[in-house]
This record gives sequence, C-alpha cells and structure tokens, in this order.
Amino acid sequence: MARCSGSLAIFLCVLLMLTSCQALGSNIDDGYGHEDGSFQSNSLIKLNNEDDVLTLKSSDRPTTESSTVSVSNFGAKGDGKTDDTQAFKKAWKKACSTNGVTTFLIPKGKTYLLKSTRFRGPCKSLRSFQILGTLSASTKRSDYSNDKNHWLILEDINNLSIDGGSAGIVDGNGKIWWQNSCKIDKSKPCTKAPTALTLYNLENLNVKNLRVRDAQQIQISIEKCNNVNVKNVKITAPGDSPNTDGIHIVATKNIQISNSDIGTGDDCISIEDGSQNVQIKDLTCGPGHGISIGSLGDDNAKAYVSGVNVDGATLSETDNGVRIKTYQGGSGTAKNIKFQNIRMENVKNPIIIDQNYCDKDKCEQQESAVQVNNVVYRNIKGTSATDVAIMFNCSEKYPCQGIVLENVNIKGGKASCENVNVKDKGSVSPKCP
Ligand SMILES: *[C@@H]1O[C@H](CO)[C@@H](O)[C@H](O)[C@H]1NC(C)=O
Ligand SMILES: *[C@@H]1O[C@H](CO)[C@@H](O)[C@H](O)[C@H]1NC(C)=O
Repeated sequence: MARCSGSLAIFLCVLLMLTSCQALGSNIDDGYGHEDGSFQSNSLIKLNNEDDVLTLKSSDRPTTESSTVSVSNFGAKGDGKTDDTQAFKKAWKKACSTNGVTTFLIPKGKTYLLKSTRFRGPCKSLRSFQILGTLSASTKRSDYSNDKNHWLILEDINNLSIDGGSAGIVDGNGKIWWQNSCKIDKSKPCTKAPTALTLYNLENLNVKNLRVRDAQQIQISIEKCNNVNVKNVKITAPGDSPNTDGIHIVATKNIQISNSDIGTGDDCISIEDGSQNVQIKDLTCGPGHGISIGSLGDDNAKAYVSGVNVDGATLSETDNGVRIKTYQGGSGTAKNIKFQNIRMENVKNPIIIDQNYCDKDKCEQQESAVQVNNVVYRNIKGTSATDVAIMFNCSEKYPCQGIVLENVNIKGGKASCENVNVKDKGSVSPKCP
C-alpha cells in the first residue's frame, strides 16, 4: 500500500514536472517573439524512458525525436516581393540549434525573396533542408554587398540532405548580371557575379529532386565536401548566359552525380583542382560547354584531379563534349579518367584535351604543364558540329600519356593530335594521323 501510494506520488510528481517543463520550454522557444516554428513531436520521451512509472503507447514513442522548423513560422511571407532574409536567418538559428533530428522547411507553393544569405553550421542535429517552394534571388547589387561572390551558402554541416521534393526551385534571376558581364558587353569591366548555391565543407551530403535556374554566375558549386550524392537535379539557364556552370566541383572527394539534366551557358559540370573520385552517371547536357575537367593550372598553380568516371551521358548541341583543359605554366596531374557510354549530338569539340588553354587576352608561352595521364574514352558515338571531332593539343614538354580510344565513332570530323600517343582499341573513327 505504502509502495503503491509512493508510486502514485512519483506519478503525480512526474506529471507536474512534465507540465512545467513544457511551459518552460515554450517560454524559451519564444525567444523570437511567438514565432517558434518548430513542433517537438515527442519531447517527453527521454523522461519517460528513465522512468518506469509512466509508459506511453508505442505509437506515441518514435525511436528518435524529430522536429520541423518552417520559415513560415518565423515571419517569412513568401509573396516573392517581401525580403524574407531575416525570417530565414531566425528560422535557421532555431533549426541549427535544435536537438533531435531536425528539418528546415521552405514550404511549397510560395516564393521567398532572399538577399545574399549564409546558412552556417555546425548544427546540433539538422538532417534535412527541404526546399519545396521557390527561393528567388534579389536582383539588387547592394543586397550582395556583404558577399559579392555568393547568393546562398550552406556550410559546415554534416549528414545533411537537401531535398527539393521535385517542386523546389532555386532561382538566381541572373539576367541583370548577365547583361552586365564583360563577356556580353565588352565595354563593361570584368567583375564577379554571385554563385547561386554554394555547398561548402559538408560531409555526407545528399542533394536530390531539386531545380536550379538562371544563376547569376555558377549555378551549384560544391566545394571542399566529402561523400556527396547528387540525384535528380535539373539545372537550366539560356545557352548564352555567361559563366553559368551547372555543377562546379572543387576540392571535393567521393561525389556521385546521377540522373540529372543540365542545360546552361557554360560547362554542364566542371571539375576543378583537388577533386577525387568523381562519378557521373546518366547525365543529359545541352545547351552548354559539356563536361570539363579544369581549367587547371591557372597562374602557375599546382593542380590535382584524379578518378573521374563519366558513365552514361548524352550531350546535345554543346560547345564541347568531354574536355580536359589546362593552362601553360601549371603543374600537378589530371589522371585516371574514364569517359564511357556517351552519346554526342552535333557537338562542336566532342573529345578534347587542351593543354594550351587560354581564356584571357594573352597567355604566355610556358613549358611547365599539368600532366594528363591515363584517360580512357570508351563507347562514344555521335556527330561533330565542326571538322575536328577529336582534338588532343598536348604540351611538348609534358605530352599526354596513357590515352586510349576504344570503340569511338564520331561522324563529321577528323582527329587533330599533337604530343600524344593514342592507343586505339576496337573500332575507332576518326583516328589520329
Ligand atoms: C553522421 O553520420 C555518420 C555515419 O552515419 C555518423 O557516424 C556521424 O556521427 C554523424 N555525424 C553527425 C555530426 O551527426
Ligand atoms: C594548340 O594550341 C595552341 C595554343 O592555343 C594553338 O596555337 C594551336 O593552333 C593548337 N593546335 C591545333 C592543332 O589546333
């Protein structure tokens, strides 16, 4: 009997604690003035697990705590006109500091106007960044005064999944930037424009079902990340929009990009210094400048890229197909590269290695070069839009090594080959003279 009433006392006491705890909790959460967008689905679980007296029905007891922080609960209007940057920052602060599996939610059916914004970790337990609505970039230059090179940055967060739920759009509204680019208007000085979405220093990253369009400059830049999986991404911009690389990969290891469709004004995918183990599968590219490794070795830099495998791609009406480009004067290596199962439709330079790349007014003649080593082209078919289908313009001092063409058949052009020994396998056309 005594034991029983003891239990009852504990029971009541626990109940009391829980109520006051929740009350306290909601007070703390109201730090942003009644805009707390998170709903804790099971804040009682920990207490209950430590206490036998109260047991919840199993349906009330998920194995992990989880919550969603929606920008709409932090004052974001989503009317496409009001600047929602501050609301996003508040929501981010909340989502990033919440314990238990947390989702940052950008709701469907709305358009959120944003200035240059940084979503910075490390976070307690943020696992999902859901872009179900549209993120629309401010077109005012002054809205980028704190960071001229970036519009949206997600950085220093591990185990994050960025999901567009097939409806989500990141829209850079880049037109105003393109018009002012020196590549379009020669009278304008060459200045940088912001990258639409930068993913920086993220480990175990998933990006899926997302659309990105009309970036100010680069559309998605993946920098200093490890273990990245990009799937079902659609990236678009006009073919004449300057420097709008689709996916730019820098200093990133172990990345896979699959089932994606990129049509843009510059490289569909560009792979830069410090990238290793890059797997590209089932890619559609065009318009654009194709798939590029480089430019490497700019300003006499040392550059290393290795383990790139493009397996399954269709390139249509692009300026290049698969390209490796390095500047004179650089050093380092681009090695262990495989381009296979690729279809080219009316591509200007279907296969190209250019160790004399130059996109400036003038590049100095220099002997040093980034060594290109072990590049296999296998099962590549299609048509060339120019009379050079295959171009190996390699360095005299550092000739291209280990180049293999296997079952390559590109109609409409010849092969131009300098400082390279090509090994042909199966049927190859055109062949190096
Ligand atoms: C991320 O996931 C890995 C593997 O599941 C785990 O070991 C690690 O602790 C997680 N990191 C964070 C910050 O949660
Ligand atoms: C190789 O590149 C150099 C430098 O751009 C250029 O002058 C030369 O014409 C190129 N070779 C061929 C065969 O196109």
